[in-house]
Amino acid sequence: MRIIVHTGKGGVGKTSISAATALRCAEMGLRTMVISTDTAHSLADSLDVTIGPEPVQIHNNLWAQEVDARYSMEKYWGKFQEYMVKLFTQRGVEEIVAEEVTILPGLEEGAHLLWINKYMEEGNFDILIVDAAPTAETLRLLSLPDASRWWLEKLLALSRGASRILRPIGKLTMGAELPDNDAWDAVKNLFDTLDRVRDLLADPKISSIRLVVNAERMVIKETQRTYTYLNLYGYPTDAVICNRIIPDSVTDPYFAAWKDLQRDNLKLIGEAFGDLPLFKAPLFEREMGGLDALRTLAEALYGDTNPAAVLFEGHTHRIEPDGEGGYILRVPLPFADKNDMDVYRSADELTLRVGPYRRNIVLPYALHNMEIGQARFDESVLCIHFVAP
Ligand SMILES: Nc1ncnc2c1ncn2[C@@H]1O[C@H](COP(=O)(O)OP(=O)(O)OP(=O)(O)O)[C@@H](O)[C@H]1O
Ligand SMILES: [Mg+2]
Repeated sequence: MRIIVHTGKGGVGKTSISAATALRCAEMGLRTMVISTDTAHSLADSLDVTIGPEPVQIHNNLWAQEVDARYSMEKYWGKFQEYMVKLFTQRGVEEIVAEEVTILPGLEEGAHLLWINKYMEEGNFDILIVDAAPTAETLRLLSLPDASRWWLEKLLALSRGASRILRPIGKLTMGAELPDNDAWDAVKNLFDTLDRVRDLLADPKISSIRLVVNAERMVIKETQRTYTYLNLYGYPTDAVICNRIIPDSVTDPYFAAWKDLQRDNLKLIGEAFGDLPLFKAPLFEREMGGLDALRTLAEALYGDTNPAAVLFEGHTHRIEPDGEGGYILRVPLPFADKNDMDVYRSADELTLRVGPYRRNIVLPYALHNMEIGQARFDESVLCIHFVAP
């Protein structure tokens, strides 16, 4: 099964593009599932059908599902949370507060990714299209296995304190119960599933992350940051999709300045995402709801390209720890001449000029205060060493 995840800033068109891509795949003959967690239920609106928390078939070869985050939370976390809540309330914490502190951070937004593992194991679909939550949540989820292990340890440390208080008072008066095996199994199951999902999403033969943007500076900047973090975590990005470009056929002077701006910002996209293929969709004269509109959107986006294929291999940049507290940024620049290259840097950005081309890379937070140690150009890869000042 292939997995394609569309992510990007709020409102750029992730849901429309996910729905259009899914429809295109289904009409190519692939058994396709499209899922979203949007609580506003816009996937259903986009496809113009009723869908729910369980998958429903909505078209030949096409299934859709709007995952209910609470449902998934309950399923994977419910039993354990129940136990923790009991423990905390017995210690005198108000139940409503106990409920709150025992929610696993990040899981609520990202519970839909747990379904990925289920579909992979069941093997009923050829391709899974994911309409992912806006950028920050998706990133939080992708780092969830580590973050939540840390959090669980803290919570368990607290609860050990709680049970020390409970034990002398005795089971009879307080009714304290140790978590039964079911509760622990549920936790183990959750972490194992998250690990598997992460492995699936990090496998470039299986998964592709696609960045959806508009030709607007702020949107591009934020998406660049996402791209850097995806590279940092090793998730394969294989395309950028720029939605809502004002078509050439629009000649109304009202839009002239917008068109110029979009042209400049499209150049910015090239500088930001290197060799990642760019797909473009025009701003249509109406909303993109219903299968006919989605078919038109898919045609404009992909033309003859197969959206189910892996559209780019490798990374346009990578940042890796050097093992000594510093980091190495590697940027493959296949056709670059090292004598015609400059590097400019501000705290959080690096701009490379190679001949007439520019690349702009947003640096992750950990590198903001580091200095550039050494830069080498080796076998067509520019390696920049960041060291602690
Ligand atoms: N190329 C386009 N031309 C015209 N309208 C579009 C286009 N793409 C999307 N739209 C419309 O813009 C609105 C927002 O799109 P969509 O819901 O796909 O964005 P989103 O990124 O999923 O938003 P959110 O972050 O809120 O989930 C929808 O009404 C959709 O029909
Ligand atoms: Mg959406």
